[in-house]
Amino acid sequence: MSEGIAMQELTVPLKDRSYPIRIGTDLLSHCGRWTAQITSSRILVISNPTVFKLYGAMVEKSLQEAGLEVHRALIPDGEEYKNMEETLQVVDRALQLHLDRNSVVVALGGGVVGDLAGFAAAIYQRGISFVQIPTTLLAQVDSSVGGKVGVNHPRGKNMIGAFHQPRLVIADLNTLDTLEERDYVSGLGEVVKYGVAWDKDLFNYLEEHTGQIMQRDKACLQHIVYECCRIKSEIVGQDEQEKGLRAVLNLGHTFGHSLEKLGGYRDHRHGEAVAMGMVIAAYLAEELGLIQPQETLRIRCLLQRLDLPVQSPEYDPEAVYSGMLGDKKASHDQLRFVLPTGIGSFTMVDNPDKDLVLKAIKRAI
Ligand code: NAD
Ligand code: GLY
Repeated sequence: MSEGIAMQELTVPLKDRSYPIRIGTDLLSHCGRWTAQITSSRILVISNPTVFKLYGAMVEKSLQEAGLEVHRALIPDGEEYKNMEETLQVVDRALQLHLDRNSVVVALGGGVVGDLAGFAAAIYQRGISFVQIPTTLLAQVDSSVGGKVGVNHPRGKNMIGAFHQPRLVIADLNTLDTLEERDYVSGLGEVVKYGVAWDKDLFNYLEEHTGQIMQRDKACLQHIVYECCRIKSEIVGQDEQEKGLRAVLNLGHTFGHSLEKLGGYRDHRHGEAVAMGMVIAAYLAEELGLIQPQETLRIRCLLQRLDLPVQSPEYDPEAVYSGMLGDKKASHDQLRFVLPTGIGSFTMVDNPDKDLVLKAIKRAI
């Protein structure tokens, strides 16, 4: 804890681009003071109407009290607006406001806002600084950290983007109180991913605290957000641009992205798709003799206890398969899977036999 407030701090270790992640309660009112340490120029707060209505006034007040000139750009709420058109509108607003290279974008919202705002910051005048204020569990444990920013293209998710690290991440756990249940639970999909792929202790903790987690107990959330950010910082510090190790964070995503696409990016939340994708990945690992069935069962049981889906809708298995070939994680139509080999360990498998992949998909339908 530091600064006399209930807060923990981590650093994403990227040499001269290292940045802090601050995690705690009642942190929004400090965002002005912390942002003023980055710039004395203008601020563009990017958010959506849902989040802005809840937290916009508090954030803008804090920024203004720190002596900063504050402007705002709101994008409509929804994954379908994470696109180039909305990004260009934000860029247009920044140009109208004559934002310069010292100006700072403040992303206030979930993963959609954070990804788009970060991307706008990455391309505006070849890149300006940005601060992430993630307000969903998914964004606090995953998307606000690590600098993957971007938007969707009609042909695929996150197909347009960049690596652009934020200067600061502020994860205020109080914002999680207002999340719709389904959005909260979706974030837990990414939380479980860290436990399955990387950290047995985290997985055990999740199993032992399901009740408190579902009640959004603050001490529990502090532990979870801190641990997930610690793991992600460690991985990103070693492999910022996903040349190798960082791919572990995609456990469940290759299948998951295909399910999201088949659901028209409306039917499944990202974390739900990751949960179903993790179960399919575990089934595939079983087919390949890489994991014991009782470990798969543990993964499945934890996801179910956290109200996450473990069975996907009745999509055509061939469609799920071909959906993966168009994914950014596939290169030259070669499929690479991150598969669990137990709780807290993983391996990468290239081009497994298609029949085994289809068998794994069918088991989850
Ligand atoms: P989201 O941003 O759509 O937020 C979910 C819903 O919650 C929205 O309706 C939003 O308005 C609302 N909301 C946000 N904060 C709220 C709050 N505090 N109270 C009440 N409502 C609130 O979805 P998400 O799950 O946060 O993020 C999903 C996105 O993140 C996807 O586009 C995914 O591709 C991306 N993502 C990116 C990375 C990365 O590394 N960049 C990693 C994982 C996921
Ligand atoms: N969410 C995967 C990554 O950031 O690499």
